[in-house]
Amino acid sequence: MALLNKALLALVGVLLAIYFYAGKEEFQPEMLKGKRVIVTGASSGIGEQMAYHLAKMGSHVVITARTEVRLKKVVEKCRKLGAASAYYIPGSMDNITFAKYVVQEAERLFGGLDMLILNHIGYTYFNFFDGDVAHIRNLLEINFLSYVAMTVEALPMLKASGGNIVVVSSLAGKVGLPLSVPYSTTKFALDGFFSSLRMEFYHQKINVSITLCVLSYIDTDTAVNTVSHVIQQPAAPKEECALEIIKGGALRQREVYYQYYATKFVMLFRDWAPEFLEHLLLKNYNVEALDKKQE
Ligand SMILES: NC(=O)c1ccc[n+]([C@@H]2O[C@H](COP(=O)([O-])OP(=O)(O)OC[C@H]3O[C@@H](n4cnc5c(N)ncnc54)[C@H](OP(=O)(O)O)[C@@H]3O)[C@@H](O)[C@H]2O)c1
Ligand SMILES: *[C@@H]1O[C@H](CO)[C@@H](O)[C@H](O)[C@H]1NC(C)=O
Ligand SMILES: *[C@@H]1O[C@H](CO)[C@@H](O)[C@H](O)[C@H]1NC(C)=O
Repeated sequence: MALLNKALLALVGVLLAIYFYAGKEEFQPEMLKGKRVIVTGASSGIGEQMAYHLAKMGSHVVITARTEVRLKKVVEKCRKLGAASAYYIPGSMDNITFAKYVVQEAERLFGGLDMLILNHIGYTYFNFFDGDVAHIRNLLEINFLSYVAMTVEALPMLKASGGNIVVVSSLAGKVGLPLSVPYSTTKFALDGFFSSLRMEFYHQKINVSITLCVLSYIDTDTAVNTVSHVIQQPAAPKEECALEIIKGGALRQREVYYQYYATKFVMLFRDWAPEFLEHLLLKNYNVEALDKKQE
């Protein structure tokens, strides 16, 4: 009897393994070779690292952000790393005309598009909500509406190529976190828009994948300078993070969780033990350090 149980257990294990891994495509860097990609917010941080990975894989890239001098340097490095071609377009994403213009320029340069990576975010404060409604509106324009506008503009090209939309979000776009009310608001909006749109694509048999990326704390200069005095948790490497985002997009995954355990487990707690999660998260914040920095 004991033997039979063990055999049954082993069988269930094998079946589960087959269920989870069967037919799952593995990532190959060649998947990105010759692909035409837009990366927004690529003058620094994770976006910059994504541009370098894509360059090494032999993609055509258009990058954008506001700071032209930085974009120029990133493009030069992309060319050295092996990009099939690399261009930059400077401008601000609080201008919806500009957001659409970036897509139009990519069409002019490449004649089509395979992947749209939406990654930029506007400046916001890391502190208690200050009641500034105009700031929320402005941040929604940069972090959310420009994503919508670029998606609408790029959709005909992405339909033609069976391409990918990759949306960089955050744990703060899945769980409410203190000290980042405006930011969290804009990231939740992305989930609402893109998860709903994905369902419509399935129904309409539109072969464009949507990948929402849920990131934990990553070691970019901006993040470390903004939150390291308050958040007591090591930051994950931006290079690896950038690669995981590209992999998820190329494999047409619904969502990417990076770092996996720092984000995926939080989802479990969010749904099954929210009060416990809130308790844990608050313990992770050294709010007194925030008060000290302001003095
Ligand atoms: N780092 C983390 O801990 C972390 C955690 C979770 C999620 N994420 C997400 O990861 C993504 C990248 O973050 P990051 O840490 O790499 O930030 P980052 O280094 O500050 O990069 C932000 C990018 O957006 C650009 N940008 C800023 N304001 C803009 C505007 N008004 N119009 C157009 N572009 C603008 C910046 O360039 P310019 O200033 O030159 O315009 C820069 O290229 C974001 O979506 C963020 O929410 C990051
Ligand atoms: C918005 O972007 C468009 C396209 O790049 C540009 O022509 C226009 O001058 C920009 N508007 C502002 C207010 O910067
Ligand atoms: C969707 O597009 C991808 C990439 O072009 C392709 O590999 C896949 O076969 C397409 N699927 C369908 C159902 O057309």
